Amino acid sequence: MSKLVHAQWSSKMTFVLAAAGSAVGLGNIWRFSYMVGDSGGAAFVLIYLACVALVGLPILVAEWLIGRRGQENPINAMADLARQNGRLPAWALVGASGVLAAFLILSFYSVIGGWSLSYTLGSVTGRFTGQDADGIGALFGGLLGSPGILTLWHTAFMALVIFIVARGVTKGLEGAVRTLMPGLVLLLIVLVGYGMTTGHFGEALAFMFRPDWSAVTGGVVLAAMGQAFFTLSLGMGIMMAYGSYLGEDVNLVGTARTVIILDTVIALLAGMAIFPIVFANGMSPADGPGLIFVNLPVAFGNMTGGAILGLMFFLLLTFAALTSAISLLEPVVELVEERTPLTRVAATLISGVAVWALGIAALMSFNVWDSVLIFGLNIFDLLDTFTSKVLLPLTGLGAILFVAWCLERQSVASELNLTGGKEQLWHVVARYVAPIGVIVVFVTGLL
Ligand code: PFF
Ligand code: NA
Repeated sequence: MSKLVHAQWSSKMTFVLAAAGSAVGLGNIWRFSYMVGDSGGAAFVLIYLACVALVGLPILVAEWLIGRRGQENPINAMADLARQNGRLPAWALVGASGVLAAFLILSFYSVIGGWSLSYTLGSVTGRFTGQDADGIGALFGGLLGSPGILTLWHTAFMALVIFIVARGVTKGLEGAVRTLMPGLVLLLIVLVGYGMTTGHFGEALAFMFRPDWSAVTGGVVLAAMGQAFFTLSLGMGIMMAYGSYLGEDVNLVGTARTVIILDTVIALLAGMAIFPIVFANGMSPADGPGLIFVNLPVAFGNMTGGAILGLMFFLLLTFAALTSAISLLEPVVELVEERTPLTRVAATLISGVAVWALGIAALMSFNVWDSVLIFGLNIFDLLDTFTSKVLLPLTGLGAILFVAWCLERQSVASELNLTGGKEQLWHVVARYVAPIGVIVVFVTGLL
């Protein structure tokens, strides 16, 4: 996109689709379900919902507002706005840590994107048909145990991302998002319907929505907040970058609400689809990142039309992962392109290959390096934990603090079209509730 005349989204719908394309991805289905399972269920879900509403919504609005005012990449936008408002240029660090987070996240995101790609192809060749839970478990174990095969799929996924970003055709994907996103929602509804026939639907609902507060620790609350940031693509500079292409006529609060509701509904549907299958097969919900990759194929193997449904599901999941991954690489490439003499293609290749190399280290955590632990975590978990529980909350905190404390209250209110009681509510949430929430969760979670 031209740097001189900063381009804008061709329409409001385009912007909503791009934001939704970034938000809806592996985070809603793969990560949400396994985090819920690992964290004991309903208490995590309810805290996550609270984080989405009280922290996610205001931070999403704040990131878009910063991007729209700055009309530049996140680092420059923060630096310029800080200068204009008489603040330290160090605010640019908020943009920089966002780009770093995007880089780190994409490395392991691509590994899981590779799993999804592999399952898509596996569905085509009928690898999963007629397998029981043990059979699927063995297949998945075989995948994890083979660094060569994992590398192959990770490379394939990353190559797709690099290809699309290098050609700058990200905007061409919007038509696809528009048709495939409803397809994903529809398929999830079908799977929830299947869950109702397993006889374990009530158990799944209780697991997801009837909390046992006694089991809640600071770690669970921090994990729930990290999930809220991850799933909404917050704290990564991405929403700021998207905001920089935004026209004055877009209603930020209303649009944020739309994107957040869509993202949340998809995550909850995914949970209601997966947990009945988990319980019906006598599996543990706390089996970690493999949860959907072991449970869903078992269900697809048992239901009528399962072969085609399974294929469609993993195809749509791969597509959702791709649109999110593209949005992760984009800010990294933009930065390299602006700060170096490299062309877009060269910048994309270099950034993409660096991400890819880190991804190799991440995927070896599942096999040859599974006993390499740093702070007690393998490389995959370390990348995930450090980004979702540290970088994203801190970056998001910086964004909301900046908007609420460094920009003029009146101008923010008029930009957000807020008056009276609503403006008052926004002011209190943005100034106190969201930042204090993040700080309290962050501090208690780490201690
Ligand atoms: N929000 C995406 C998901 O839920 O899968 C993942 C993601 C995309 C995170 C883009 C961060 C990001 F910047
Ligand atoms: Na998401």
